[in-house]
Amino acid sequence: MSQDKPQRHMVFGTLILLVLFVGLTLIVVPIVQANPGPDSAASTATFRTKCAMCHGQDGAGSAVGKSMNVPDLRSSAVQKLPDAELAQVIANGKGGMPSFKNSLSEDQIHSMVSYVRSLHQKK
Ligand code: HEC
Repeated sequence: MSQDKPQRHMVFGTLILLVLFVGLTLIVVPIVQANPGPDSAASTATFRTKCAMCHGQDGAGSAVGKSMNVPDLRSSAVQKLPDAELAQVIANGKGGMPSFKNSLSEDQIHSMVSYVRSLHQKK
């Protein structure tokens, strides 16, 4: 009987480690999740102030935008374009679309690309 005592210690030690590990995971995961990558509230605000006057808040196109023939940003014609092309159009402009490379940082331009992608999912 006395032989299995050290083994019980081992099991106990392993259990404590396991509990510590699970506990730590439970603490760390919410902290990481509370901070989701690019700030989506900031992207929404940027889109509303810089883009919605032509593209509308939902990307469909405002009255002004429609008079300039803006494409529906949710349409597959726009969504099928690669990220690099969307970023390029936002940075350098195209037709009636103004250039934003002087008023938006590269990060902001990339978050606008993600924002345009997210419009598609909402449709
Ligand atoms: C002054 C009006 C105006 C504003 C402001 C504007 N756009 Fe545009 N946008 C246009 C027009 C017009 C087009 C169509 C260009 C063309 O195809 O000739 C366009 C096209 C686009 C396209 C599609 C590009 C393509 O190749 O089909 C994207 C994406 C886009 N805009 C994103 C944005 C974003 C993001 C913002 C804000 C940072 C923005 N636009 C602000 C007028 C505007």
